Parts: sequence; structure tokens; C-alpha cells
Amino acid sequence: MKLDVVILAAGQGRRMNSALPKVLHLLAGKPLLGHVLDTARTLAAERICVVYGHGGDQVQTALQAPDLSWAIQSPQLGTGHAVLQAMLQSVNSSITLVLYGDVPLIQAATLQRLLNVAEQGGLTLLTANLDNPKGYGRIVREAGKVTCIVEEKDATEAQRQIKEINTGILVAPTAALTRWLPTLGNRNAQGEYYLTDIVAMAVQEGLPIVTAHPEHLWEVDGVNSQVQLATLERVYQRTVANRLLDFGVSLADPARIDVRGELTCGRDVFIDVNNVFEGQVTLADNVRIGANCVLKNCHIFEGTVIAPFCHIEDADVGPGCRIGPYARLRPGTELGRDVHIGNFVEVKNSTIADHSKANHLAYLGDATIGQRVNVGAGTITCNYDGANKFRTVIEDDVFIGSDTQLVAPVTVGRGATLGAGTTLTKNAPPDQLTISRTKQLSIAGWKRPVKQKKD
Ligand code: UD1
Ligand code: MG
Repeated sequence: MKLDVVILAAGQGRRMNSALPKVLHLLAGKPLLGHVLDTARTLAAERICVVYGHGGDQVQTALQAPDLSWAIQSPQLGTGHAVLQAMLQSVNSSITLVLYGDVPLIQAATLQRLLNVAEQGGLTLLTANLDNPKGYGRIVREAGKVTCIVEEKDATEAQRQIKEINTGILVAPTAALTRWLPTLGNRNAQGEYYLTDIVAMAVQEGLPIVTAHPEHLWEVDGVNSQVQLATLERVYQRTVANRLLDFGVSLADPARIDVRGELTCGRDVFIDVNNVFEGQVTLADNVRIGANCVLKNCHIFEGTVIAPFCHIEDADVGPGCRIGPYARLRPGTELGRDVHIGNFVEVKNSTIADHSKANHLAYLGDATIGQRVNVGAGTITCNYDGANKFRTVIEDDVFIGSDTQLVAPVTVGRGATLGAGTTLTKNAPPDQLTISRTKQLSIAGWKRPVKQKKD
């Protein structure tokens, strides 16, 4: 059956107390609407149409994609009016699924179930039974059959006791929906065109009303406030943590991990507390991540240990490496096997080959470093002259003494040694000691100055 998906995202979101449109607030690093779009994309729809509101250009700019259609709703006169704006564009579908842009965690499996029911014809509602149904539209039934939905503000005291609520998500036959929507009235407590009024219309036409429930209640939770957003963030993170645990990953504390993207783990991975994973991160077998690291778009290969407090972005870390504590691997870092990067070492746009070490206090930028190189404490590649960047090449088996500056472009030949404190401005030949240092001298009989007396 040809499916049309309409996502309502025109609401103001006043209670967020923020200049940012509500659906652009981030959950796990992704806009709320982005979550709904990605779920909708799994359903093989003919069209995914976002109804956006006044001042919502920001929304369109942020989430623009070739597979999306947009319908503006201005002013916002209610959910029925919102869906109508989407239906004003020609649609070639037999059923229409309505989703909310601020209900981010609705799961594809639940929607698929809803669609399966909907394919049998009729109007299909996703409903839930809540202990505290306050604020929601209530599902009114007679002899078990749904007769209408009544909004909290329009409900009688008896109707307010109903615990079955309208989640807002529904599937309707497209032809009927297009027919019903223009006939909606707004004579109700809120003066809005309620989408929910189509239920009574369907009943009148003798169309069956079917209901389905979400697998988890959090799937239908909406975000109206920062508190609700923060609550759903924790729900999301806990489900990710549980998935990792089920897969065999050891988490020191499943409540203290944040995945804002996709984290893929091999076997016997250990992740200590307070780690943040952003974008696409892969941790191969036997990787250990110490506490308080941020890893973004990186691959960590087998058996590597990342000690606490490291920041790694757009980098590949080879197998058997030891990184940190307090290391920073910036974009373009590629480390071979058994590379050691120690505390307060920053690496950027550099490759470091197998068995090389930079264990303390160094900056390695725009460098190509060979195998078995030892980079002493305090070594700096001077890669930038204020206008342009240049490369430093350090060949295999080089030993660089502490506090060395390599003024790029410069090459250190294979097997060379640089004496501590060297400022290298010319290439260092292979296998020799190169040193640039003023000769040490001691002055006998030298006296320290003494403080002058004032009278
Ligand atoms: C709506 C339902 C209610 C249901 C509840 C679930 C109606 C009349 N009521 O109520 O039965 O229990 O959702 O949360 O449908 N929106 C627009 N344009 C508008 C109005 C709303 O795009 O003119 C969007 C909002 O951005 C939001 C969604 O529609 O994503 C729901 O709007 P909201 O005002 O939260 O609906 P409720 O009054 O809570
Ligand atoms: Mg409303």
C-alpha cells in the first residue's frame, strides 16, 4: 500500500524557553525532528512531508534533504489544520501516517505494527493506557468500540476519568482524510481545528476504528519542556547502554555513558564511566576506554587502551596502542600498531607508524613519523609560520631529545638522533647526532645580586 507520512512540526514550543525551534533541540546529538525523520525513512513511504511553522525556515535549513517535502502552516490553527496543509499538495498514496516532530523516540517496529493493522482498512489510532492521563485527548468507547476522541479541555468530568489516551499518531485512508479535513470545525474549548475530530466522522461513515499500542510508553512521550527533553535523553541513553550490554560490552556504569551517534563495538570491550561517543565510533575487540573521554568519528583498533581524560576526533588509532591519560588526537591523526601517546601530547593531521612513542608534553602537527621513533618530552613541530603550514618528516628509528623544535618543512633522516634542546631548521642527516645548542659554560666566582638597601 502506498504510504504518505505527515510529520507535524509547526507548534511553537513556548515552554522550552528557548529561541531555538523546539524540534531542533538535540536528543543524543540529533534534532528531535531528525529522530522522527530517520524512523519515518525506514517505512518506505511515497512521501515524507514536514509541516513547519512560522519562522521555521531554520527547521527547513537544518534538516533539508532531497527525500523530504515541506508544507508551511501559518498561522497554527490546530492539528487538523496542520495535516490539511500537507494534503493540499498532491499526494499519491492510499494511507497517511501522522507523526509528531516532538515525539522523537517512536520506534519503527511500533509504526510497522500500526501500518500492518491499517492495511486492513479503517482508521487506526495509536493509543496508550496511562495512570495519569491528564492533558491528553481521551479515547471514548461505547460497548468497546471507539466513538470519538475528546480533548482534556473539552471533556466532561466522567470523560476525564478515562485512562486510554490518544498519542496523536494515527493512520487514515488518504482519500477519506482529504475529504474530512476541510470540513473540520473549530468550535471547541481551544478554538482549534482538531485532527481528532476525524474519528467521529469515520464512525459516522461506518468506517472501522482500530487501535494499537506502542511497545514502550516512552515511545509516545512528547517533548514540551527542557525537563521532558532531559528525561527522554536518559531513556534513550539507557536503551543504547542496554543494547551494548546485551552485545557483551562491559560498562562500568550504564547510567554514565552518552552515545550521540553510532557506537559499534567488538568483543570484550570495556568502557569506564563518563565517556561521550559522537558521530561514528568503532571500538574493536578488547579495546578499553578509561573514564572521562570524548571520542568523535574515530576507529580504535584491537586491544588498544585509551587512558582517562582523552579527546579523540576524526582519528584512527591502530591496534595495541596506549593513549593518554590526557592525550588529544585531532583530525587527520593516524596511528599504527603499538604507538604510545602520553599525557599532554597533541597530534594533528599526522601519521605515526608502528612502535613509535611520544610519551609526554608534545605537539605533533602535519608530521609523518616512521617506525620505532622516540619523541622526547616537550618536542614541538613548528608547522605554521603564521600564514602557511608545512610538513615535518621523521624517518624510522629516529630519537628526538627533549625540548626540540622542528621548524617545518624539515626532514629527520633514518636513525638520526637530535640532541635535547635542538631547534632544527635544516634537514638532519641519517644516523648522526644533530644538535643546536650554545656551549655550556660555568663562571667561577660569580655572585648573585643582593637587594639594595633604601634609606
Ligand atoms: C494533541 C491531540 C491530543 C493528544 C496529544 C498527544 C489534537 C486536537 N489533540 O493534543 O488528542 O492526546 O496531541 O500529545 O490533535 N501542531 C502543529 N500545528 C498546529 C498545532 C499543533 O504542527 O497548529 C503540532 C505540534 O507541533 C505538535 C503536535 O502537532 O508536534 C501536537 O500539538 P500539541 O499542541 O502538542 O497537541 P495537544 O494539544 O497536546
Ligand atoms: Mg495544542
